[in-house]
Amino acid sequence: MDTIFVLNGPNLNLLGNREPRIYGNQTLTEIDAMLEQRAKALKLKIDMRQSNHEGELVDWLHEAIARASAVIINGGGYAHTSIAIRDAVAALQVPVIEVHLSNVYAREHFRRQSMIAQVARGSITGFGPLSYLLALDAAAHLCKGTGASQAKSQIQ
Ligand code: DQA
Repeated sequence: MDTIFVLNGPNLNLLGNREPRIYGNQTLTEIDAMLEQRAKALKLKIDMRQSNHEGELVDWLHEAIARASAVIINGGGYAHTSIAIRDAVAALQVPVIEVHLSNVYAREHFRRQSMIAQVARGSITGFGPLSYLLALDAAAHLCKGTGASQAKSQIQ
């Protein structure tokens, strides 16, 4: 079965309380539960993590080289600033899908640039928790293992 890493950067542990007008009311735990359900239907395994530390996110991206068939990443603020995370994403051969809950292009100017977008397969931004679900569907299409592709044909 293919494993999809779902990596979350700084401040995303505060979802549910954090600026709900922008990020909504769902917690990261609730988003995880929603993804688990969808992953089951897709016959994928997801491994969801969150860290406020840049180096830890880099370590997890390195771990993905051996363990993941695709990576979904919400880099939070690091998406706009981190060359280290960008370089770690660039080192991966598996597809990496960038997600953001908010529409980063409709916000402050500094959010319009993403280091991750420059090296990711694609980005999904602005759909709230649905951004993660859309990314999971994209990962199911992109990752190679038979587990994912067989499940896709069953649920269509
Ligand atoms: C975010 C957007 C980023 O600009 C911000 O720093 C976040 C959350 C999002 O999911 O919309 O922490 O990644």
